[in-house]
Amino acid sequence: MSTQALVDSSAPPNAGPHVLDWVRQITELTQPDAVYFCDGSEAEDRRMRELIVASGSGTWLNSEKRPNSLLVRSDVNDVARVEQRTFICCRREDEAGPTNNWHEPKGMKAKLSALFAGCMRGRTLYVVPFSMGPIGSPIAQYGIEISDSPYVVANMRIMTRMGARVFDQLGQDGFFVRCLHSVGYPLIDANGVRRPDVAWPCNPESTFITHFPEERLIMSFGSGYGGNALLGKKCFALRIASVMAREEGWMAEHMLILGVRDPKGRKTYVTAAFPSACGKTNFAMLIPPQELREQGWEVTCIGDDIAWIKPGPDGRLRAINPEAGFFGVAPGTSYESNPMAMESVRNGTIFTNVALTDDGDIWWEGMTRESPAHLIDWTGRDWTPEAKDAAGKPRLAAHPNARFTAPAGNCPIIDPDWENPAGVEVSAMIFGGRRATTMPLVFQTFDWTHGVYTAATVGSEMTAAAAGTIGQVRRDPMAMVPFCGYHMADYFAHWLGMRRSVHHLPRIFHVNWFRKGADGKFLWPGFGENMRVLKWAVGRCYGEALGRETAIGWVPEYESIDWAGLDFSEERFNEAMNIDREEWHRELVMQDELFMKLYRQLPKELVFQRELLIARL
Ligand code: OXD
Ligand code: MN
Repeated sequence: MSTQALVDSSAPPNAGPHVLDWVRQITELTQPDAVYFCDGSEAEDRRMRELIVASGSGTWLNSEKRPNSLLVRSDVNDVARVEQRTFICCRREDEAGPTNNWHEPKGMKAKLSALFAGCMRGRTLYVVPFSMGPIGSPIAQYGIEISDSPYVVANMRIMTRMGARVFDQLGQDGFFVRCLHSVGYPLIDANGVRRPDVAWPCNPESTFITHFPEERLIMSFGSGYGGNALLGKKCFALRIASVMAREEGWMAEHMLILGVRDPKGRKTYVTAAFPSACGKTNFAMLIPPQELREQGWEVTCIGDDIAWIKPGPDGRLRAINPEAGFFGVAPGTSYESNPMAMESVRNGTIFTNVALTDDGDIWWEGMTRESPAHLIDWTGRDWTPEAKDAAGKPRLAAHPNARFTAPAGNCPIIDPDWENPAGVEVSAMIFGGRRATTMPLVFQTFDWTHGVYTAATVGSEMTAAAAGTIGQVRRDPMAMVPFCGYHMADYFAHWLGMRRSVHHLPRIFHVNWFRKGADGKFLWPGFGENMRVLKWAVGRCYGEALGRETAIGWVPEYESIDWAGLDFSEERFNEAMNIDREEWHRELVMQDELFMKLYRQLPKELVFQRELLIARL
């Protein structure tokens, strides 16, 4: 069949001519056997899941324990985002800045065209129309992902509003972000010779995750996993959207959004940004301690990873979660650390690279205190608690980056306004990292500029999960270093510039749940107890909670935190809140490394903020 016939015979009547043109062009390039336009229906989802099972990578879980849920095992070489193969391809290198891999667009396009040529031979090309944010919202944006992976289709249906309705929204010429993806494993070569498929096709040697911000185009080749392949998430909602947001006067941030209802029934929305491995999903779904619940405090969740924030007509910032699901790290998630995440994965969930129990359910390290006596591990091998790897170390049953993809609507504490097209008003923003020393449990910055400086200098100690030396502090401004689609210094300037269009700016806070005492143990109990800090922050937004001025910002006194039901002594609190001048001087020297890297374009206000802080200390 000709390309034209292949596309036109499968296109729905509401797909606009600009959509069809692009699909024809990609079909011509990638030469699939079939083209399929996704409608987002349940029946289609069922077929995708059956295809995943038939491929050998997926297993239906026990339908009583995990209804409509799948376990999928990826290739062992395709298990995480690959930052070193992620590129920003804009015309000028200094537009991408020193924190991104840059490639000149023409050369990258040539390289990718060669890789994409014929890469879908023997496969079906899926056209996945999706909305980031509630369809019709003034903050939402649309995209179309072309992919040759049923796993991508099934995940995109959970993570975005996916389906034919998006074509109605786009009409004849509506704007959409072009997202092209292939696993890079054609089944027929250029000579027409066929090869058998594998359970998880991928092409790690030729993986490229590329962004063309000027064209609003994403091209991803060679990986089928997570953020490499579900292009609505990090690629669109952060890297491309950050560029769009800067041009259009809004913000695309790596932030969770939560709502706090106080005993008066007043609702306050807070966003928070933490680098990877700092418990972001746990904070997004926090259950307050019983004593605070009894007083009437309640937390609701809007999103766990990304926030799109736009000034509303009233000059206040309004936020939506552009996603519709959670793509959470499974290991460490338990009824103790995050009961709401555990409830969210009870049905309709896709689990990737977790372990399989003998009764057809899932398990991962940290899910229960005792591990089961026997499992099938994430690579499909038998596993017992004694299992060892080649180096003689305990062998993990689940991959450390194993994930669940769960519909946000599954979360029992999802906020009633999570799909409100107008978004919710943001009253506070919280930043923080993982720091054994220096950073107190909480402080409030003096104003927006000081807040931007504080967010711009966030650092976090690397854990085993992140590449690098364990314990070393990595600067991760606004937790956006891997996700900002342009020069980080210009991104800071954009943040500072939001002052001009927003009349009521959110209060900015910094927290650190990970400070250690002299005994090397965490000082703060974490998890639900974080509510006590959140309560103080919310009180600050209304001028209702007391704060004491220090060199680094406003801090609570012991009496200003609600300790009901928690035995946490004043001495311990003072240890968690201690501001040590020596440590801060070291911190300021370390911050300089990042500032030097960005110096030429760095807004001078941030340098000035640093000098003010030195003077205050
Ligand atoms: C994520 C991340 O996967 O931030 O969400 O790394
Ligand atoms: Mn994230």
